[in-house]
Amino acid sequence: MKENKLFSQFRIKNFNLRNRIGVAPMTRMSAAADSIPRQDVLDFLVRRAKNGASIIFTEAIVTDYESGQGYPGQSRILTQPQIDAWKPVVEEIQKQGAIAIMQMFHCGRMAGPEVNPVNRSIAPSPITPKQDNPMTGAPYPVPEAMSRFDIDHVITGFVETAKGAVEAGFDGIEIHGAHGYLINQFLSSYSNRRTDSYGGSVENRYRFVHQVIQAVRKVIPEDRLLTVRISNWGVADMEVSLFDSKAEYQEIIRRLANEPIDAISVSTYGYNEKAFGTDKNMAQLTREITDLPLMICGGIYDRASGEEALQDADIILSGKSLLLNPNWVEDVLANKTLNRYKSEEADIAYTEEPLP
Ligand SMILES: Cc1cc2nc3c(=O)[nH]c(=O)nc-3n(C[C@H](O)[C@H](O)[C@H](O)COP(=O)(O)O)c2cc1C
Repeated sequence: MKENKLFSQFRIKNFNLRNRIGVAPMTRMSAAADSIPRQDVLDFLVRRAKNGASIIFTEAIVTDYESGQGYPGQSRILTQPQIDAWKPVVEEIQKQGAIAIMQMFHCGRMAGPEVNPVNRSIAPSPITPKQDNPMTGAPYPVPEAMSRFDIDHVITGFVETAKGAVEAGFDGIEIHGAHGYLINQFLSSYSNRRTDSYGGSVENRYRFVHQVIQAVRKVIPEDRLLTVRISNWGVADMEVSLFDSKAEYQEIIRRLANEPIDAISVSTYGYNEKAFGTDKNMAQLTREITDLPLMICGGIYDRASGEEALQDADIILSGKSLLLNPNWVEDVLANKTLNRYKSEEADIAYTEEPLP
């Protein structure tokens, strides 16, 4: 095993990253009615840049005011005050030697109508997850199947949010196609039963994300990054494999690799878990198809796991370790013995308790 890849530089497009470590996107649910995160939540991102991470992802930012929001207290970058709130944060992250990437999403059938002013839930097909909404303890409402108008309108939300991020100075934008949210709902036959040109074959199920990517790329200057996050699992019905097979997953990666994107980010429960009944993990199955810069996330908590994960990827992202341990990058560099945090420990992210 090459032991020093974690702290080697990496060039992604026109950015020279000082190491291979990034802060994974993490929702904090801290915003008031203005959809602007609490100051301590913004400061947290700057602190992680100061403490050595080379990429800082934002929490998932909601792309509209009608149907996209899934959780209370989520943020948007659609108004001038929202853009102005992010600007100094992005500048500080850059000053600290890291790059800032805004992640954006629409929750689709995982949206909470009670947190969306229009009180409407939409999805590719009128099917709910089997699991109840953990925020309300009630079943998710049956979503309305998206009309062509809805599809175009939701794409516009991604575009407008990307424009807001560009205006705020972000170095990159990530389209959240993972974790069972709207884009993932279109991609997966588990949630997409449409019979029009957006459902059925992989080509059809892929059409929505294709249109989002194409529309968003047009409004992002050439020198900014566009990345897509993908996973085979969703936050509801967690045990379900969202893609039918290795072949289906790789067909989607093949299509993504042909898009004008700069990296693929793969989210897993465990970076080294074998996938789709094969003897390969998700990073390896992705790498078989494309040489695009590849980010891997899930269960990386110390130097050894980081180096192992990098055997099949270019960048590692950490969620819980970077959430809870401000000195994580330094500790990894020092090869300290570190604990793997439990999911429950991360729940502090959603409280008002300021993180270290
Ligand atoms: C508090 C919290 C919030 C999260 N919010 C998001 C999110 O907004 N977008 C996203 O893509 N993933 C989100 N995730 C998933 C993480 O990005 C990451 O994939 C996951 O925590 C696994 O990595 P880890 O084992 O290093 O924690 C969240 C995770 C946590 C712990």
